Amino acid sequence: MNDFTYHVPTKVIFGRDTELQAGEAVRREGGHKVLVLYGGGSAVKSGLLGRVTGSLSGAGLEWEAVGGIRPNPLLGFAQQTVDGHRDAGFDFVLAVGGGSVLDTAKAVAHGLARPGTPIWDYYLGRAEVTASLPKGSVLTIAAAGSETSDSAVLTNEATGEKRGLGSERNKPQFAIMNPALTCTLPPRQTACGIADIMMHTMDRYFSVDTDNAFTDAVAEALLRTTVEYGRAAMADPADYKARSEIMWCGSLSHNGLTGLGQPKDFSPHALGHELSGMFDIPHGESLSIMWPAWARYVVGSGPARFARFGRNVWGLAREDDAACAAAAIAAVEGYFRELGMPVCFSQAEMGVQSDETLRELARRCSYCGSRVVGRFQPLREPELYEIYL
Ligand code: NZQ
Ligand code: ZN
Repeated sequence: MNDFTYHVPTKVIFGRDTELQAGEAVRREGGHKVLVLYGGGSAVKSGLLGRVTGSLSGAGLEWEAVGGIRPNPLLGFAQQTVDGHRDAGFDFVLAVGGGSVLDTAKAVAHGLARPGTPIWDYYLGRAEVTASLPKGSVLTIAAAGSETSDSAVLTNEATGEKRGLGSERNKPQFAIMNPALTCTLPPRQTACGIADIMMHTMDRYFSVDTDNAFTDAVAEALLRTTVEYGRAAMADPADYKARSEIMWCGSLSHNGLTGLGQPKDFSPHALGHELSGMFDIPHGESLSIMWPAWARYVVGSGPARFARFGRNVWGLAREDDAACAAAAIAAVEGYFRELGMPVCFSQAEMGVQSDETLRELARRCSYCGSRVVGRFQPLREPELYEIYL
């Protein structure tokens, strides 16, 4: 087991009607004036935004709500929100929504704490996040895990770059998680969330140092649970038990627990971000497309690991590692298809791509040849191109 530091400071408030505790939760964290951020309208339509702001008012807090954050959230929106609110005295940022709203809230919280620093500087590594406002969320979709994660992802609409930012200051103070709120999700968003939850653990599981019995057991249990209850939520969107299981898996999948003691890989995420940056496809779909291609490219670097994954997650009984590994990849691909997810470019809203575009994707993913992606099998620009192919 490699050395590690594990710090998950986010208070989780889980269960029915917990959104009504938003005001108290902010007050306990010392907030007085709250900038509430939300997305394209689902939280307004469902009445959730009204319940949350009612709870803030009930706790004696001032608030202002700003909506319009879109999936694959944009740098421009976050920067404009900072510029327009920098002198207004906000001391807490509350996200009502999913990963896109949360990631915007994280960026806005950093921006309001240090308005002189352009937000994108943090994502390019030109500045370090040394201050941020406290932040929390009322989560409406089980997917990105941003509610307890140390990362935040934005797309720079001027360049098409989708970049992640890792920082301890990205970890929210609290996460309010009412699984019933996710029952209104359209099937496509439920499916995207299931794929993303699986991938946050799988991108840790396929690692180079894997001598971690407990970490592996937790990872495999989380994946089995997500597969089982993902099916149940797709079959019956109002199944509270299923929604609860996948919501909890969503948080634990991306707060480090399922990869403790080993380096992360995250190549499929890196490959997928370029697809979303260039074609604006949902994050979950970028992963269901890239994982099978990545897995078939790298399986030779660790067939025993893929075989173990097949036996312990998918219940495969084959003795031969190579055959079991191939069957495991097919099982994941089959499950994604069952969810209605695309597993190749032609099935997504981006169509078949020219060779020139595939080369451009590889160039961007390798940061113009300056970075090597992943650990399970380190990938440079030529290998990334082969995978996109
Ligand atoms: O905008 P509204 O109208 O709310 O609709 C949203 C949006 O269209 C809808 N939705 C959310 N909750 C709903 C609902 N519709 C009906 N009922 C509800 N209860 O779902 C759509 C997708 O929302 P979004 O927030 O984009 O989804 P998700 O949570 O999957 O977030 C995706 C973003 O998170 C990033 C992704 O790259 C992507 O930009 N990620 C963030 C991570 C992190 N911060 O740790 C890690 C992930 O790997 C990921 O990269
Ligand atoms: Zn993800």
